[in-house]
Amino acid sequence: METKTPAIELKHVTKTYKLGGETLNALDNVSLVAQAGEFIAITGPSGSGKSTLANIIGGLDKPTSGDVIVDGQDLSHVRDRALSDYRNHHIGFVFQSFNLQGSNTALENVIMPLVFAKMRGKQRKARALECLQAVGLGDRVNHKPSQLSGGQRQRVAIARALAVKPSIIIADEPTGNLDSARGAEIMKLLQDLNHQGITLLIITHDQTIARLAHRMVSIHDGKLVEHRG
Ligand SMILES: Nc1ncnc2c1ncn2[C@@H]1O[C@H](COP(=O)(O)OP(=O)(O)OP(=O)(O)O)[C@@H](O)[C@H]1O
Ligand SMILES: [Mg+2]
Repeated sequence: METKTPAIELKHVTKTYKLGGETLNALDNVSLVAQAGEFIAITGPSGSGKSTLANIIGGLDKPTSGDVIVDGQDLSHVRDRALSDYRNHHIGFVFQSFNLQGSNTALENVIMPLVFAKMRGKQRKARALECLQAVGLGDRVNHKPSQLSGGQRQRVAIARALAVKPSIIIADEPTGNLDSARGAEIMKLLQDLNHQGITLLIITHDQTIARLAHRMVSIHDGKLVEHRG
């Protein structure tokens, strides 16, 4: 039987914060394997460690101890430069509050990660337009975030995440600021991307969304619990 490299492998990951003499394990000995193409929902109460986990998997942060292996590459011990290189080329992030640049147009927002990924100017624009079209915003490319609806803003954020052709998309409460109809549209879009082969991790409080995933895990006080079947 063929054995494939998992998309994500966390081995005994702990993240400790020290604040004013107190230590807090935001993540406590977390192990998790995600296969390429999987869609995993991560749930858990506020403050349980979900965003910390997402940031570590996405290379925005490093664990205090343990190993983070993404696409066969161990991120836990690489230099910051290599970590940001990895992030710029392999991961798409989508956040609850969209995190768009307010003074830039939709097109400029989607071009941004391609600048970091060092794509040439002409190709950047073509790729960004392609991504905006893919999320149904081909007719809004010159609008600024303030001139777009919430659902449209999140679609710009998804186009931005898609721009570098990531192998993994990590979405931290992507529907948290949207009404349920708009949330469902965003989920449809993310699921379509998953069907195209992108590994999808979604953090959500919403059980309806979590049930769309292939697999659900939850976090309580930094400890991960797998839900089977
Ligand atoms: N930079 C930091 N310094 C100190 N403590 C932190 C830091 N970042 C997060 N924490 C703490 O780590 C714990 C986990 O935070 P995290 O943001 O991962 O929670 P979360 O599950 O995403 O919560 P929410 O659902 O509210 O977004 C919290 O108790 C938080 O206060
Ligand atoms: Mg969070």
